Amino acid sequence: MEKKIKHVAIIMDGNGRWAKQRFRPRIWGHIRGSSIVGSIVEAASDLELQALTLYAFSTENWSRPEDEIRSLFKLLHKFLKKESVNIIKNNIQFKVVGNIEPLDSNLKALITDIENKSAKASGLKLSFAFNYGGRQEILDAVNKHIQLKPGIAITEIDMNKLLYRPEVGEVDLMIRTAGDQRISNFLLWQMAYAELYFTTVKWPDFTNIMFKKIIEEVEKRDRRFGGLDNSGNLQASQEVAKINLNKLKDTH
Ligand code: IPE
Ligand code: IPE
Ligand code: MG
Repeated sequence: MEKKIKHVAIIMDGNGRWAKQRFRPRIWGHIRGSSIVGSIVEAASDLELQALTLYAFSTENWSRPEDEIRSLFKLLHKFLKKESVNIIKNNIQFKVVGNIEPLDSNLKALITDIENKSAKASGLKLSFAFNYGGRQEILDAVNKHIQLKPGIAITEIDMNKLLYRPEVGEVDLMIRTAGDQRISNFLLWQMAYAELYFTTVKWPDFTNIMFKKIIEEVEKRDRRFGGLDNSGNLQASQEVAKINLNKLKDTH
């Protein structure tokens, strides 16, 4: 049977509250949080997921204090330096989604280097959403379309091709840790029909066992995409909907 969950997206939330509970500074939570990312990526590879997208820094996170922002950038740098070996070794294709323009040149160079070295990998498509905003991604796609085909209305097919990383496709499952039940401007277009899973576990306490259990549980859910059974996918359902709509239009 074809796997239902191919692309998982995670909002890695709760580092600050995890640290606060332990009377430590927020950055302590970020350090612990970043230390578990590697094991979740490994679990995604083991599970043979096609894609994993991790929300690491949003366009709204610039509103945090400057020292926290700087620490987060430093942690990303450290993480990538350490993980680049595993990314290559495990045949992972790595990309940052979001605008890396404002980052410092060393970090940008490191990101580009890992992206280039892993470009031909055929395993997990790992994306780090960094300086990422769902609305910004949609606006960027629409603006690209206006440049490419001025005066022509944009379609879903155009849109899907103009996203930051078109090849990863729809999100099948979005997991958010730390208890808040919101999307916070993550992958708005790609999550149109995603299954959502919220856990109260804070990101630094999240484990690969929990991750595997969530996927197993969600695999059992009925995904109907507006239809009545669990056999299709979004694209197939949209095609049937279009045919039926045209048929019904003709009858009155
Ligand atoms: C998630 O943890 C990490 C980032 C947003 C960068 P938070 O820093 O949001 O932690 P809480 O939500 O304040 O606990
Ligand atoms: C979402 O978490 C962004 C990341 C995990 C990177 P936030 O902590 O920024 O989200 P809000 O502020 O609770 O919506
Ligand atoms: Mg948060």
